[in-house]
Amino acid sequence: MKLQFVSLLSTAAVASASWSKNINYRSPSEHHPALGISIHKIVKRNDPGSSYSASSLNFTHGVASGDPYPNSVILWTRVAPQSDNSQSNKTVTGYVPLYDHDNQGYVQVSKSPICVEYKVASNKDLSTVVDSGKVYTSSDVDFTVKVEAKNLKAYSTYYYQFNVCNSNNTSPLGRTKTSPNADDDITKVSLAVYSCANYPFGFFNAYGNPVRKDSVDYVIHLGDYIYEYKNGDYGWGNSLGRIPQPDHEIYTLYDYRRRIATYRTDLDLVASHQQFPWIPVWDDHEVADNTYRDGSSELNNTENSFLRDGGVSVDQRKMNAVRAYFEWMPIRQVDMDDNLRIWRSFSIGKLVDLIMLDTRQYDRSITDLYWNTDYVHDISNDAGRSMMGPRQEHWFYNSLSASDKRGATWRIVGSQIVFSRLNQSAAYGDENPLNYDAWDGYLANKNRTLNHLYTNKINNNIFIAGDSHASWVSDLVWLDEKKYNSSTGDGSIGVEFAGTAVTSPCPYGANISLATANNYSHIITSANEELQWQDLYYRGYFELHFTHDEVQAHFFGLPTVTTRNSWEIPLANFTVKSGANKLQRPVGGGVVESGSLKFGKTVQSNFTVDTGNGTWFISHAGLEVL
Ligand SMILES: *[C@@H]1O[C@H](CO)[C@@H](O)[C@H](O)[C@H]1NC(C)=O
Ligand SMILES: *[C@@H]1O[C@H](CO)[C@@H](O)[C@H](O)[C@H]1NC(C)=O
Ligand SMILES: *[C@@H]1O[C@H](CO)[C@@H](O)[C@H](O)[C@H]1NC(C)=O
Ligand SMILES: *[C@@H]1O[C@H](CO)[C@@H](O)[C@H](O)[C@H]1NC(C)=O
Ligand SMILES: *[C@@H]1O[C@H](CO)[C@@H](O)[C@H](O)[C@H]1NC(C)=O
Ligand SMILES: *[C@@H]1O[C@H](CO)[C@@H](O)[C@H](O)[C@H]1NC(C)=O
Ligand SMILES: *[C@@H]1O[C@H](CO)[C@@H](O)[C@H](O)[C@H]1NC(C)=O
Ligand SMILES: *[C@@H]1O[C@H](CO)[C@@H](O)[C@H](O)[C@H]1NC(C)=O
Ligand SMILES: *[C@@H]1O[C@H](CO)[C@@H](O)[C@H](O)[C@H]1NC(C)=O
Ligand SMILES: *[C@@H]1O[C@H](CO)[C@@H](O)[C@H](O)[C@H]1NC(C)=O
Ligand SMILES: *[C@@H]1O[C@H](CO)[C@@H](O)[C@H](O)[C@H]1NC(C)=O
Ligand SMILES: *[C@@H]1O[C@H](CO)[C@@H](O)[C@H](O)[C@H]1NC(C)=O
Repeated sequence: MKLQFVSLLSTAAVASASWSKNINYRSPSEHHPALGISIHKIVKRNDPGSSYSASSLNFTHGVASGDPYPNSVILWTRVAPQSDNSQSNKTVTGYVPLYDHDNQGYVQVSKSPICVEYKVASNKDLSTVVDSGKVYTSSDVDFTVKVEAKNLKAYSTYYYQFNVCNSNNTSPLGRTKTSPNADDDITKVSLAVYSCANYPFGFFNAYGNPVRKDSVDYVIHLGDYIYEYKNGDYGWGNSLGRIPQPDHEIYTLYDYRRRIATYRTDLDLVASHQQFPWIPVWDDHEVADNTYRDGSSELNNTENSFLRDGGVSVDQRKMNAVRAYFEWMPIRQVDMDDNLRIWRSFSIGKLVDLIMLDTRQYDRSITDLYWNTDYVHDISNDAGRSMMGPRQEHWFYNSLSASDKRGATWRIVGSQIVFSRLNQSAAYGDENPLNYDAWDGYLANKNRTLNHLYTNKINNNIFIAGDSHASWVSDLVWLDEKKYNSSTGDGSIGVEFAGTAVTSPCPYGANISLATANNYSHIITSANEELQWQDLYYRGYFELHFTHDEVQAHFFGLPTVTTRNSWEIPLANFTVKSGANKLQRPVGGGVVESGSLKFGKTVQSNFTVDTGNGTWFISHAGLEVL
């Protein structure tokens, strides 16, 4: 009797595909009706017999991978009958949308499931397949596909590809890499670190350069992967032909999907996702400017704007942003039922433990919302304030101790915002010279972190940060508490590398000149004893190269982001020796290409560049004929 259900070959193939293996159907929560998607309802609605024809479907945004574990990695793609994003809303019981700007009080859903196969192989021609599977996607998840590739070997490179079931309609070929086992004694690992990519401000050349150089194992993104603004309000996309869609500030689920989709048309971003596994976290702009637990700079939340379900309490705009983010980013769901948790950690052999914090969205006390700067200044030293919330703080300190105990050589702490105290009275004035939206506005949380490191004598701490659109390299110190010698570095407990933006403009003026920027950098380094190098002028990124003996940091500046190009200037290099807990002296080798080095000089060199068309060089003034 049962055999008759397996009569048509095509139906049988579709029927064996899985809904739940597409992780996005369980996102952001499978346990809370108000937050999840009912697979049961989708199955009932969909008619597997009415599949789209393979030729009507496209892999619209390439492929991506991320959150590498020793035996598995997350793979991502999107396969759709349209390039536009899905208008399907997630029906939230008893909730009236606050931000119905698109007037999208309707559901537009596909009735046919899309069946997708994937395979993972140890070689480029995909002949040695180690894992494969078949999953569904549909409009409910914006036609995204997110699967966990399993049965993989530690610290190994793999290639993967998706195809529409029973067809030759394939995605681009992706490359990825698992992490080492925690007790593997690997000798080196390299990371590229990014933050603050703003589409209408320029081309994402910074993402493409490590692809072209093939210089790293993994990509870390510390947030501001997208911006929520309307083009003209922040950015000059008109002059660059880069207007992020939809062309207004984003609020709805459709808006967030569409915005991320626009960003994912940048060819260098596509290339980075295709070649490297990413480990990203969000900062504020994945949702809105200066977000904290209960709101943002342009939102004073009220009780009834919140959606509550089980362990989650969140306003609707943040919910939309989080849904779209998880649909589109190649990351794992650690424990979404814990207030949409994204903070998580990775062991990279015995060499490195990477701790990725959420200092933004999860449980941050009120931040600087512009109208309350004096107030937040007044309360910045209150013992009860936290950027992370008690639960995450507890986990953070335990993770640092556990990493130390297991003998990992290095600890990397991925923070959205700059950890070190940065007196910028030159720009902000003497009254509120610090950035209260950064750790300086949360001294208690900062002190607890430093106290934990100093008290437990935890060594080799490398803090990394983004958010500020400028580069800051500091010894990691507890000012006013632990003696610190700025010239020798004695008294420090680690190092902080905070990187500039992929494209977001310089905080001291969008079109600032190199000379003016360097003057400001000089003022800032003079005003902060732990700050050893600072650069305001360049957009770019940095790479970290780890061995058991040392960490090398290479900062790269991009001469221009107004065109797509591969040019970069090696701005500054730093070394941290194992056990030293400070920058190696002379810091930066005593010479940098831009900005201000506290105990060194800034010289401006010219670099030749291969444009495939005559001999050219890049100087700090741009591209010129030699
Ligand atoms: C798929 O891509 C092709 C080639 O770019 C294009 O011609 C076609 O219109 C696309 N189809 C859909 C459904 O987007
Ligand atoms: C989603 O669509 C349904 C059906 O049209 C509607 O009742 C509901 O209010 C919509 N929900 C949201 C959050 O827009
Ligand atoms: C895919 O392409 C190959 C080679 O051209 C062909 O033999 C095969 O039938 C195609 N498969 C499908 C499902 O179209
Ligand atoms: C939020 O409240 C403060 C204080 O009442 C007010 O100054 C500010 O303009 C409000 N912001 C918004 C977006 O309503
Ligand atoms: C910041 O620097 C200015 C000028 O150097 C100084 O007057 C002020 O006390 C400093 N403030 C803090 C909080 O360090
Ligand atoms: C943090 O440490 C600094 C330096 O010792 C101290 O001035 C400040 O009062 C401390 N704040 C809190 C909340 O612990
Ligand atoms: C820092 O150390 C150097 C070299 O030992 C020493 O000459 C200098 O006096 C120290 N500075 C301070 C402020 O202690
Ligand atoms: C800065 O430069 C950009 C790109 O070259 C230009 O579009 C914009 O108008 C300039 N802005 C200002 C304030 O000069
Ligand atoms: C930079 O500072 C120097 C020394 O204070 C000054 O002479 C020069 O004019 C400044 N340059 C700019 C572009 O601000
Ligand atoms: C940094 O290191 C790279 C490669 O090791 C080198 O090419 C570059 O000149 C260095 N830059 C500086 C400013 O020292
Ligand atoms: C770099 O090129 C510029 C011309 O654009 C020239 O003025 C300068 O002297 C060169 N610098 C070096 C260090 O060669
Ligand atoms: C050569 O490259 C330069 C710089 O990118 C460009 O301005 C010029 O048009 C190119 N010439 C040709 C023939 O491609």
